[in-house]
Amino acid sequence: MSTKLNVNQLQDGLCTRRFGRSILFSREVDSTNKWAKELATYGASEGTVVIAETQTKGRGRLDREWISPTGGLWFSLILRPNLSPTETVKLTFVAGLAVTKVLREMFDLKTETKWPNDVLVNGRKICGVLAEMNTTGETVNFVVVGVGVNVNFDVENVFPEQLKKVATSLEKEVGRKVKLEKLFRALLERLENLYELFIKEGFNPILEEWKNYAGFLGCKVEVTGPTGKMSGVALDVDYEGALVLRLEDGTVKRVFVGDVSVRA
Ligand code: BTN
Repeated sequence: MSTKLNVNQLQDGLCTRRFGRSILFSREVDSTNKWAKELATYGASEGTVVIAETQTKGRGRLDREWISPTGGLWFSLILRPNLSPTETVKLTFVAGLAVTKVLREMFDLKTETKWPNDVLVNGRKICGVLAEMNTTGETVNFVVVGVGVNVNFDVENVFPEQLKKVATSLEKEVGRKVKLEKLFRALLERLENLYELFIKEGFNPILEEWKNYAGFLGCKVEVTGPTGKMSGVALDVDYEGALVLRLEDGTVKRVFVGDVSVRA
């Protein structure tokens, strides 16, 4: 099976109202999020998607590099929700949940969500989500939701040493290459579905389902944040998307930014 994206098949049988009705494709781009932000600034409508076969400067959270070889699914979706700036973080959960559910349904994988934006299989990261917004004061002009899924490549051959231990790909977990275009369409359909649920019914149904897949809840974790490391038990993720942590001295703290690693 070809690992190259077939641009002509991206919309074949796509069952969405708005998401992916307009798709822009490039073989190589610096970052699909950057591209989508430029398009959104020029007025691209909600649901517009940009997708690339490879990214030369893919970006992750906290401005980290996101390695994006051929064979992965790297795309960004433009949204124009009527939300306050602080609420846009919830879109990360919408997208993470969509990926978690689609990978479970299509490949029967025991995917898990990890706060705030990861999808894991067998404890290793298979997908990351990066939501970036553009605001004027308290008005959100647009949000770009970037989704990166490691699909048809072997992390052992592609990733640097430190990532090989913590990352995985669909090819590795399923034992074969998968059809990128089919996965892409399923993700867009589920994204639209859950986004509409979120807009109609609020964050609660999304969060409750996201927590059902959150294997780290109840575990001892280490959180690396902007001000250093903290250890404790991950008690909950709350209505604002904050991680609720019981520190070793018994105090309970809400954490808004950081990386979680589960301790043995
Ligand atoms: C993370 O886990 O830190 C988020 C990773 C997000 C990667 C995706 S790939 C498509 C889009 N374009 C980017 O530059 N980043 C996102």
